[in-house]
Amino acid sequence: MRVTEPARTRPGGIGTVVTEPGAEPVIDVGRLHVHAGASHILRGIDLTIRAGETVALLGANGSGKSTLVKALVGTVTPSQGTVGLLGARLGTDRVPWERVGYVPQRVGAGGGVPSTAAEVVASGLLNGRRWWLPRGWRGRVRDALGEVGLADRADSAMQVLSGGQQQRVLIARALVRDPDVLVLDEPVAGVDRPSQEAFAATVRRLGERGVTVLVVLHELGELAGLVTRAVVLRHGVVVHDGEPPRPRTEHGAATHHHQHPHDDATRRRPALTQNPVAADPEEVAP
Ligand SMILES: Nc1ncnc2c1ncn2[C@@H]1O[C@H](COP(=O)(O)OP(=O)(O)OP(=O)(O)O)[C@@H](O)[C@H]1O
Ligand SMILES: [Mg+2]
Repeated sequence: MRVTEPARTRPGGIGTVVTEPGAEPVIDVGRLHVHAGASHILRGIDLTIRAGETVALLGANGSGKSTLVKALVGTVTPSQGTVGLLGARLGTDRVPWERVGYVPQRVGAGGGVPSTAAEVVASGLLNGRRWWLPRGWRGRVRDALGEVGLADRADSAMQVLSGGQQQRVLIARALVRDPDVLVLDEPVAGVDRPSQEAFAATVRRLGERGVTVLVVLHELGELAGLVTRAVVLRHGVVVHDGEPPRPRTEHGAATHHHQHPHDDATRRRPALTQNPVAADPEEVAP
């Protein structure tokens, strides 16, 4: 199994030692294969992520990122291989799900019964065994909404929030559990700039607290200075595991002004990498 030593310090100048080499593996995937019908989606993934790492999972559309994340949280069953989470093996051991936060890839805004932001966040405190809210839930919900910069929107109906704000509510729902590991599938795809910045601030604080973060992204964007490691998938195989790709020079320059909108209407494909061996600018792959 390939084991990559995590970076000891965060690039971006925080300078906090976040991970000791040899820290406990939080995510431990071995020789993982996933099939769906005739498709062989994941083809032998080895991935070990240790406590305190902030890892970006990158790759083109259809490369298998969501499938890998779903295998991690147990909603997709491997055809071969093993998945370990917080020291427990999926399918065999009891996994401490209460220590895991998960934000799935967004599939439309959806309609249905109107809920307030606070109600959605509070649902993150329920679990399979407990169908009532724990003591002190109001304060925890308030704190989680504050964490994503929406403290003043607790009583707003989800429908009146922007796409980016709705996504922040879903992140708050994962955070309210106070997870040790947080898995997010494209949390900033197509969201407005303030929501991207709020998310980056959240990831920074989580990193400082030692929470292990695995985040699927199409481009590093605001997280460029925060991820300690990047894993790139291509056609269901890990093709890069190590240093995050560096932003293009002009993007990295302090004087660079973003001319392109990062708003709900624009979903840009990865263009922020300067990887000498990237054959195709559409793919964040070495
Ligand atoms: N249940 C399924 N049945 C058949 N094929 C599937 C299934 N789920 C995913 N796939 C296929 O597996 C491949 C990987 O899908 P996956 O959603 O994991 O990719 P992704 O990297 O997350 O893509 P995106 O960037 O678009 O979110 C795609 O070709 C997809 O069409
Ligand atoms: Mg996906």
